[in-house]
Amino acid sequence: MTQVDYDALSQRLLALCAGESDEIALMASFACEVYHADERFDWAGFYRNVGGDILKIGPYQGGHGCLVIPFSRGVCGAAARSGEAQLIDDVAVFDDHIACASTTRSELVLPVFNQQKRLIGVFDIDSDQPHAFGAEDADQLADILRQVFYGACP
Ligand code: SME
Repeated sequence: MTQVDYDALSQRLLALCAGESDEIALMASFACEVYHADERFDWAGFYRNVGGDILKIGPYQGGHGCLVIPFSRGVCGAAARSGEAQLIDDVAVFDDHIACASTTRSELVLPVFNQQKRLIGVFDIDSDQPHAFGAEDADQLADILRQVFYGACP
């Protein structure tokens, strides 16, 4: 299942983001590198926490994504509400899945926190393959998100 060299991806991102504290620049770099890291990923991007329990689209790669997601909706909203990773093997059985693309079969959404431990948004990856993501993807990407947005770069 895992085809990503997460050590190499982490090194690339930490080098790219070194000394940068602008969240949009960090998000754009992160979405680009992850999207191109593995053919399983056919959409990768951020939804930003804009207050009022609303997420709005941020930097992404892939087909167009919906612009606004309330915390009460979708896989992204579940990650924002819970602060927990959402690993969805089959989006067809996730009651309130928001289908930005009819080809999406599985999804991984991770909450993103800044140095002040504030939820700045969620990172969403879609795949047109069922069961495309595993615990290693969730753990490794969560760790790199922490390094980029919580620690090393800013
Ligand atoms: N599927 C997500 C919505 C974002 S699109 O996948 C880019 C959800 O259910 O929250």
